[in-house]
Amino acid sequence: MTDSDDPAAHYKDSSKLAVRGGFHARYSNVGWFGWVDARLNIAPGAGVLDVGCGPGWFWAACRHLPADMTLTLLDQSAHMVEQATERLKHLNIASSVVADAGKLPFPDQSFDVVVAMHMLYHLPNPAVALREMHRVLIPGGRCIVTTNNPRDLPQIAALSRHAFGSAIDDMVQERFGTPVALDLMRQHFTEISQQTCEDIYQVDDPEPVIDMLLTMPPGDKADTQGQARLRQAVGDMMTEHDGCTPMTRVQDMIAGIRT
Ligand SMILES: C[S@@+](CC[C@H](N)C(=O)[O-])C[C@H]1O[C@@H](n2cnc3c(N)ncnc32)[C@H](O)[C@@H]1O
Repeated sequence: MTDSDDPAAHYKDSSKLAVRGGFHARYSNVGWFGWVDARLNIAPGAGVLDVGCGPGWFWAACRHLPADMTLTLLDQSAHMVEQATERLKHLNIASSVVADAGKLPFPDQSFDVVVAMHMLYHLPNPAVALREMHRVLIPGGRCIVTTNNPRDLPQIAALSRHAFGSAIDDMVQERFGTPVALDLMRQHFTEISQQTCEDIYQVDDPEPVIDMLLTMPPGDKADTQGQARLRQAVGDMMTEHDGCTPMTRVQDMIAGIRT
């Protein structure tokens, strides 16, 4: 198994995620975390589980959380859990757990809300994790997942295919892109809702594009020829767009209720 198909190796620490986050932070006009925060509507006193919490950047950016909610952080990466716990000291952290989303170490009906943001496509079988999320929710509890829409950043996937022969987005879409996510959510939850966040990035610098593609699979394993092909392709793309390439960013938030 390589870093490319092993999320545990890829997310051993947050450095690769930070490169991608830097690209989005530089070009986003909407601000994804704020967009989700404004739509979460967490009730006062709610117990919330975040599956695949990463370094806790999302909760750190939230401005609409009820002061008395409790948050349980879970990630398969010990480093991510450590970082998130440290970063979110100002919140009521009920517990911080290193575990797999496919086997949640909590009793049935433990939480009011369970979220899994941009992580279920890392699992070979996301339905297993959704079953677990259903199990640990109380009846009437809310499951919220986020993922990439099939219309998300097509230029990035095209550059990856051109330079390296494949794009991680193909796997993301196959496992848990929006249409698949909606289908799986309907199998486990009721009252499914979908909200779409659209943004247009005006990308005026080739370097963050190259950095991002070289830190995510399969570019993170590219040889020097692959890297050269990528540089050439990004340069051509920028020339074609007179130095500023518009890229459409499309992400979805899908929610459902546990019966
Ligand atoms: C793209 S990051 C998203 C982090 C955070 N949810 C966010 O939206 O900013 C994916 C996270 O999922 C975690 N992850 C991947 N597979 C996992 C699994 N099977 N169980 C638990 N966490 C997992 C990774 O360690 C990583 O922290």
